[in-house]
Amino acid sequence: MNNLLKGLVGVGLGLGVATVVFAQDQTEQPAATEQAAPADETAGEDTGAASDTAAQDETAPATSEGEDATAAGGEGEAVADDEGDAAAADAEADADTSVPEDGAASAADEEGEQDATAEGEEEHEGEGEASHTQHYPIKKPMHVDWSFAGPFGHYDIGQLQRGLKIYKEVCSACHSMKRVAFRDLEELGYSEAQVKTFAADYEVEDGPNADGDMFTRPATGSDRFPSPFPNEEAAAAANNGAAPPDFSLLAKARAVERGFPHFIFDIFTGYAENGPDYIYSLLHGYDEETPEHIELPDGVNYNPYFISAAGLAMAKPIFEGMVDYDDGSPQTLDQYSKDIAAFMMWAAEPKLEQRKKIGLRVMLFLVLFGALLWLTKRKVWHSVKH
Ligand code: HEC
Repeated sequence: MNNLLKGLVGVGLGLGVATVVFAQDQTEQPAATEQAAPADETAGEDTGAASDTAAQDETAPATSEGEDATAAGGEGEAVADDEGDAAAADAEADADTSVPEDGAASAADEEGEQDATAEGEEEHEGEGEASHTQHYPIKKPMHVDWSFAGPFGHYDIGQLQRGLKIYKEVCSACHSMKRVAFRDLEELGYSEAQVKTFAADYEVEDGPNADGDMFTRPATGSDRFPSPFPNEEAAAAANNGAAPPDFSLLAKARAVERGFPHFIFDIFTGYAENGPDYIYSLLHGYDEETPEHIELPDGVNYNPYFISAAGLAMAKPIFEGMVDYDDGSPQTLDQYSKDIAAFMMWAAEPKLEQRKKIGLRVMLFLVLFGALLWLTKRKVWHSVKH
């Protein structure tokens, strides 16, 4: 008996330690990759260009001469290219052409281009920033009390219907949802006829017909939501170079690390709402002012909740009062964000309720079965001394 207990405790401890080690591994990995990225950034900044991304570092010097001269310091071959520019500056400032970056920079200075000095300062700032790596998201997602959280979780049908309305009226202008078919909407409490009418609002491409041509027709229940753009390149071209991601699985694809000690408690509470919490927070994050030390390229909107940078190509998509609810729910940003996030969770995991129900039954069965086994074992061994 004692040995059995000891064995169980041993196995339990072993599993516990393994979980902690594994989880820490997972939290540390992204940190390592992130560090690599800013290292590139600082390299870029050292060469004098003040922009964030490598691509811009390359394009920036090509545009103005003064910057060229400073930027050249970083790359051997670029120095040769830039000597022409430097020489032009030299002609006025009477400096030696063969002097590398410093000479060139001062030449630019003497030309009266204050850019060079301004960049010099930024260079130092850049070095200062390099000492602490910025981790994203800047702010952890807010925690929402979802109806579908926990072992007894279930979807709130009214909420999903409101989320669908938001998707249809707002987000579907940019975001596709390729894996959801119209007939799936019956799970949101709509009848077959209602789904048919809903689907008929959309046009899908079909064919080829007898003449070999593709044609469009109104969608039916078996069609999936058509995409707003013909392909990803077109989607990116229309949205500042970033294609809006497909909604079908997005709520499951974005999980912000919770860190210690949450991930330990999460095992027991069954927390798996990182995705909807993230989407909810992201939609709230647009109201915050861009901090002074953060510089974003044109078309990028600051959002401290965005998972992989300080801002994203999507501007604030939804505002108070934008979508009319017919069930009397408040038409606020907060309610909208919850409803669309819940809807996206449903799209990503329509069978969540069944999964939780079956899981609960399985656990119940295991407990009962374990108890029965335990009693049986006692009965079988009761006459054997140990
Ligand atoms: C005008 C087009 C447009 C509309 C409308 C729009 N989005 Fe976006 N969305 C984008 C673009 C572009 C991106 C990609 C941003 C990036 O990666 O920089 C994006 C990205 C996202 C992301 C993913 C962020 C991530 O972690 O990668 C979420 C979530 C999102 N949008 C939610 C919504 C919701 C919810 C709505 C409707 C209320 C909506 N969007 C409406 C253009 C749009």
